[in-house]
Amino acid sequence: MLSSLSSTISRLNLFCPKPSIPHSLSSCLKTLKPQPIIPRWSCLHSLSTHSTSRLSTSLKPQFDALVSKDDLVVLGIETSCDDTAAAVVRGNGEILSQVVSSQADLLAKYGGVAPKMAEEAHSQVIDQVVQEALDKANLTARNLSAVAVTIGPGLSLCLRVGVRKARKLAGSFNLPIIGIHHMEAHCLVARLIERELEFPFMALLISGGHNLLILAHDLGHYIQLGTTIDDAIGEAYDKTAKWLGLDMSRSGGPALEELAQEGDAESIKFSTPMKQHRDCNFSYAGLKTQVRLAIGSHNINPEIPISSASSQDRRSRADIAASFQRVAVLHLEERCDRAIEWARKIEPSIKHLVVSGGVASNQYVRARLDHVVKKNNLQLVCPPPKLCTDNGVMVAWTGIEHFCMGRFDPPPPADEHEDYVYDLRPRWPLGEEYAEGRSEARSLRTARIHPSLTSIIQASLQQQ
Ligand code: KG4
Ligand code: ZN
Repeated sequence: MLSSLSSTISRLNLFCPKPSIPHSLSSCLKTLKPQPIIPRWSCLHSLSTHSTSRLSTSLKPQFDALVSKDDLVVLGIETSCDDTAAAVVRGNGEILSQVVSSQADLLAKYGGVAPKMAEEAHSQVIDQVVQEALDKANLTARNLSAVAVTIGPGLSLCLRVGVRKARKLAGSFNLPIIGIHHMEAHCLVARLIERELEFPFMALLISGGHNLLILAHDLGHYIQLGTTIDDAIGEAYDKTAKWLGLDMSRSGGPALEELAQEGDAESIKFSTPMKQHRDCNFSYAGLKTQVRLAIGSHNINPEIPISSASSQDRRSRADIAASFQRVAVLHLEERCDRAIEWARKIEPSIKHLVVSGGVASNQYVRARLDHVVKKNNLQLVCPPPKLCTDNGVMVAWTGIEHFCMGRFDPPPPADEHEDYVYDLRPRWPLGEEYAEGRSEARSLRTARIHPSLTSIIQASLQQQ
């Protein structure tokens, strides 16, 4: 396993300050040495508290002329799906700027994300979004310590736009670059808003493409307690909203949440997914089918927007929305209950459950999960809605966390060709699966392109 990972590690160039440097990384260190920007690549606070003793002698000189963690200023760029986002964050957690450009028109037109269109939309606004983030922070790229960018998971076409921009900027200004895992960023942004949040903790990450229940042991070290075997909850919200003729311009979730407030959540008895599977995995494909059938039996025409529906029609749609939401979230509640039990067996000291990702901006979701967490004597940490949906702050902050552990790449060449083949990870698991939690209800879509972030980091640590 380790040997099969070594080539991946050298491509990743995640290097950790440790006594001996693996061969695959030494070339990267050589490139680092002559850089005139060495002082900006250092992070006094974290290195001194966590890993100074593990610093290699060949690395040490780079960390002597140190800046403190608080003085780091990192630009985060996020383009993994439909939002083009950038933000500048300081090492002390201060958000200096945050800019998000959403593809409202495209979402409304196509009722979802069309990769090629999304790529074009990202390309059109990326320069402007990044510039605005710098301007709002009253900085130029010269003032940055590093650039962090999402490299996966997500849509390749879209990821490429952000990565190209990040590398161009980092190359021009000789800045280190940090490749970020999108779901780790959703998780770690909780540590920016809740400074007391220490490892280990649990996280439920719920977005358009992912449903993850994880135990976060340490930075970069995650155990996956559960994942979806088909669709993620955000996808189910989006499809249900589309079939109910709702306004899709902000994606389906917010519109469905609003309509559900008018409906009777008990009116339609959708069955809760995966009742018979005593694990922590999720499934939303069956619920989607149930919703579709209900829409058909209530004679709802998705072509008629909700704004033009008769009052009786609107009432039926609201009932479906509320009933869907109740069951979709009940599924989360049941899985979280079990995951807390499992996580406590592994790490009895956990105190927090983080809930993040776009769907975590939903007030009903937050309230129901708060109930679960209180029942289990834990604390809920849920970032504010703007930091739950895709944003650049989470990317910048995760960049800061890794940068302070010495995990970053050297600046790309200033003259890197536009056709350079970037290291993108459209399908990239976050952690290793919890062995005892393996489900018989396995997805056929488990083929991996990349080893998980955790396995890469663990392998690089063991090699040193
Ligand atoms: O994390 P995110 O912004 O992007 C992805 O990584 O996918 O999550 C987007 C998902 C979409 O499916 C969207 O409908 C859902 O989050 N979402 C919501 C709400 N706001 C966004 N779902 C339910 N209620 C909301 N208020
Ligand atoms: Zn996301």
